[in-house]
Amino acid sequence: MGGNMAWTTEHCVGLPSIDEQHRILLDCISLIQEAVSKRAACSTIQPVLGQLENFARLHFAYEESSMRSCRYPGLAEHAEEHLRCMSDLNDLLEASHLAEVSERLIVPIENRLLEHIMNSDRQFASWLGVTGERGEEIRVLAVG
Ligand SMILES: [Fe+2]
Ligand SMILES: [Fe+2]
Repeated sequence: MGGNMAWTTEHCVGLPSIDEQHRILLDCISLIQEAVSKRAACSTIQPVLGQLENFARLHFAYEESSMRSCRYPGLAEHAEEHLRCMSDLNDLLEASHLAEVSERLIVPIENRLLEHIMNSDRQFASWLGVTGERGEEIRVLAVG
């Protein structure tokens, strides 16, 4: 159940700043999973979950503003997936207040996030790649 969520080049979307943020997100989930599997106290897990939620919010805002600045046509749909991920993370944070964080809760969340990275974030990266000359300019923006 649940893998090791460490970021590997397999998760690469090809935009360095976004890849770096994904690495931090996945590392953070890995830490939480490890703590949960060692039955760490919720008071230990909660701050890490809080950080994960904050970082995810920043990351999603970063992606969305990159998409906005290059008029990515898939932005609305993409932002909706971000909202769903945030709502998962909120639920997890709430569960942690009730001392109910378990692997069973974390696995679907990590799966959703991974699926998003591997499909939707990659779609954006490859769209940038096919927009030709403007793509170059946009890539600089998205890479930050
Ligand atoms: Fe992302
Ligand atoms: Fe995204």
